[in-house]
Amino acid sequence: MHFFEYRENQLFAEQVPVTTLAKEYGTPLYVYSAKTLKRHFNAYDSAFSELNHMTCYSVKANSNIHVLKLLGSMGAGMDIVSGGELYRALKAGISPQKIVYSGVGKRPEEIAQALEADILMFNVESVQELERINDMALRMGKVARISLRINPDVDPKTHPYISTGMEKNKFGIDMKTSFSLYKKAKDFSGIQPIGIDCHIGSQLTTVEPFLEALDKILEFYNELCSWGLCIEYLDLGGGLGITYEEEKPPHPKEFGELLTSRLKGIPLKLILEPGRSIAGNAGILVTEVIYTKDTPSKHFLIVDAAMNDLVRPSLYGSYHRIAEVLPQGRPLQSYDIVGPICESGDFLARDRELAQCESGELLACFSAGAYGFTMSSNYNSRPRACELLVDGANVHCIRRRESYQDLIALEEKE
Ligand code: LLP
Repeated sequence: MHFFEYRENQLFAEQVPVTTLAKEYGTPLYVYSAKTLKRHFNAYDSAFSELNHMTCYSVKANSNIHVLKLLGSMGAGMDIVSGGELYRALKAGISPQKIVYSGVGKRPEEIAQALEADILMFNVESVQELERINDMALRMGKVARISLRINPDVDPKTHPYISTGMEKNKFGIDMKTSFSLYKKAKDFSGIQPIGIDCHIGSQLTTVEPFLEALDKILEFYNELCSWGLCIEYLDLGGGLGITYEEEKPPHPKEFGELLTSRLKGIPLKLILEPGRSIAGNAGILVTEVIYTKDTPSKHFLIVDAAMNDLVRPSLYGSYHRIAEVLPQGRPLQSYDIVGPICESGDFLARDRELAQCESGELLACFSAGAYGFTMSSNYNSRPRACELLVDGANVHCIRRRESYQDLIALEEKE
């Protein structure tokens, strides 16, 4: 459910016509809906209201500081994966006690930064990382609270690039090694194990893999308990999918009920790290058709948004719904909707049925609020798009469009 709706034959972002936004801010343009972000956060967070829990929004999905501030104001904690994300979260006013730090390659300076900030916990992904955090904490006179990220070897049945909880993936630590590490934790005086963590993948559309992982983790937790190590937190990561096309992922309520029934009565604080399910359908990418081009085998719509703006279709073959901003009831035609970048892999959609379009028309690419702008680049020296946050009738420009000067700003001699 989102607040990008057609009324009076045109697309609105909440109360503002998308054409108005494009006219004022140009294209390609990311538009986010504050009301949708709030609704999604509430739906997710309230689904776990019967459990002692904390919802740590996954910053990588959409890390604009204004989005973080909005979610922070609703009580969200943050799941971070880099020093840059820590910087953003702190700047957005998030309490360090609500920040968890995941990722397989935390550099020493990033570990120091997180220790200095006194974040809630590190989700540790290797033996060497644990040793390094321990050494650094001791050197800095701190104790690092940690979880081990367990790799439960569960198939999340999603795109292979975003499945993370299988043995062959680079993420987490296998259960056997994890158990012996928890046992050895007392030898690491710079470390305090306070949790168990697991994140098996992203865009999961069924609950079974989550439940399979949870069962394994709970068994593991019971073993730890019987051995005498009391763990306070259970971090189940993110991963709940959204509808891009026809997928029917579980509603957060259903997801929450299932986890609640498994976890009720167990004295653990639950941490969740949703990203896509909060931000994905809270954003669209607006683009203008530059040219139409017919070749002997295809009809192309050449638009001003490219793989540098939204890489998901090129990288994962992902589907994003694309529709006219001003529908006119014209007959459909099969199009390849492509960007100006010099690669045949630069497309937003292939063989897509869309109303016959003209150059100069606006299209909206839906479900672009997560892993859209955050994965964008300057490839082909294209300035990155502008980001707007619409809240009712109010429009906030939360990131101005990059300029040509911005493109070379870091390359100039002092
Ligand atoms: N926690 C951890 C440790 C993660 O690695 C991720 C996502 C999340 C939470 C949030 O997962 P979500 O709730 O958003 O599924 N670029 C890809 C998605 C990559 C996800 C990476 N990790 C895409 O565009 O589909």
